[in-house]
Amino acid sequence: MGRKLLLEHLNKANINTMEGYLQNGGYRSVEKALKKMTPDEVTEEVKKSGLRGRGGAGFATGMKWSFLDRNSGKPRYLLCNADESEPGTFKDRLLMEKIPHLLIEGMIVSSYALGCRTSYIYIRGEYMFILRILEKAIAEAYAKGYLGENILGSGYSLDLHVHPGAGAYICGEETALIESLEGKRGNPRIKPPFPAIAGLWGCPTIVNNVESIAAVVPIINDGGDEYAKIGIGKSTGTKLISASGNINKPGVYEIEMGISVEEFIYSDEYCGGIKNNLELKACVPGGSSVPILPNHLLLKMSDGNPRLMTYESLSEGGFATGSMLGSGGFIVYDEKACIVRNTWNFARFYHHESCGQCSPCREGTGWMERVLHNIEYGHGKMEDIDLLWDIQRKIEGNTICPLGDAAAWPVAAAIRHFRHEFEYHVKYPNRVFDEDHVYQPEMKMQKV
Ligand SMILES: Cc1cc2nc3c(=O)[nH]c(=O)nc-3n(C[C@H](O)[C@H](O)[C@H](O)COP(=O)(O)O)c2cc1C
Repeated sequence: MGRKLLLEHLNKANINTMEGYLQNGGYRSVEKALKKMTPDEVTEEVKKSGLRGRGGAGFATGMKWSFLDRNSGKPRYLLCNADESEPGTFKDRLLMEKIPHLLIEGMIVSSYALGCRTSYIYIRGEYMFILRILEKAIAEAYAKGYLGENILGSGYSLDLHVHPGAGAYICGEETALIESLEGKRGNPRIKPPFPAIAGLWGCPTIVNNVESIAAVVPIINDGGDEYAKIGIGKSTGTKLISASGNINKPGVYEIEMGISVEEFIYSDEYCGGIKNNLELKACVPGGSSVPILPNHLLLKMSDGNPRLMTYESLSEGGFATGSMLGSGGFIVYDEKACIVRNTWNFARFYHHESCGQCSPCREGTGWMERVLHNIEYGHGKMEDIDLLWDIQRKIEGNTICPLGDAAAWPVAAAIRHFRHEFEYHVKYPNRVFDEDHVYQPEMKMQKV
């Protein structure tokens, strides 16, 4: 059994209440940090831990914190990104719904390290019921003296607010989130300046994912070095993976970084293998934005070694043969899954969610959706496949925020690895509708 740092107490009675959380060792890191450590010492432990942001990009958390402008004389803010709208990703939801005090504890310690007097949790609008859970837990934390003036007599004071979004994926992008929190339309800002210099209301701001902030708790409790002992290379600690698709046991799993992809898919501790004993066809390992990988590239890297659940291993080979760990939204496809339909589905999402500021994304996402729709519904032409390739190339890297890349990469990877399925749709427009869109035997498991 792998070690659990975040979900260890998930199934304990009343863990969602202050009483149950304290009975299981809760708020120890607040006592330790605020009473025995300086803010810089807390940051130092986070640096030592090697923790990398769990929101998708995997940027080193301690290093990000050290970029915060501490000399501006302006208030500083910590914003927790709980927007969680990436298709395939639902891990932050579990943490907040079941163990809300873990996030609050992490927010207190992180805010202390960053010198914030006020911090926010920005939560996606569809999670309104979780917002209520968090508000209740925050009220309990105020009542116990973990929030508010002079926390535990340490001289440090913090106010924590939860703010709902209105159901826009783009508001998960950190500068769009900041705009939205300021009460404006959630349009991403041009960087620089980065939020660490000029973020919320022009003040120095750090934006971190829910899981990143929760991980600060075990890091402070046990020390950064202890955390860094788990994992491989620059992928330290544990990671929550949201597993979905054609597997026997969909759910959220906490893994030690560095287990093999094969173990994650087939072991009973995690996904429990492919549903109905079918074969594995492909997987999107890090949420809808990251490239899909066919089974032979998913289980092994290009050098033949096993592919591991780490930032480095999943991206080995670049986009030619690799993908990304991303937010850990692990979507598995069996041999009968239709890659064209799946790509069209993702394209619909990105078209719907593009904020429209940048022409390549605004126009390109709609264009890709329409071309994919044509191919999927039997009206495609062979040249449409190259057209799709061209469109995605013109979006990638040409937008203010990475939503454009996120829309382009899945299309590129689907064509790169499953071109034959696109061609099949064009050649046999009627056959792809057979048996609930399940492929004919000759389409199964074709190797690229
Ligand atoms: C379109 C888009 C949506 C995003 N959605 C989220 C999200 O829901 N949650 C999240 O933590 N990060 C999201 N991100 C990444 C954030 O911009 C940011 O990198 C992250 O919150 C930083 O936290 P971390 O360093 O702890 O990972 C998104 C990025 C983009 C471009």
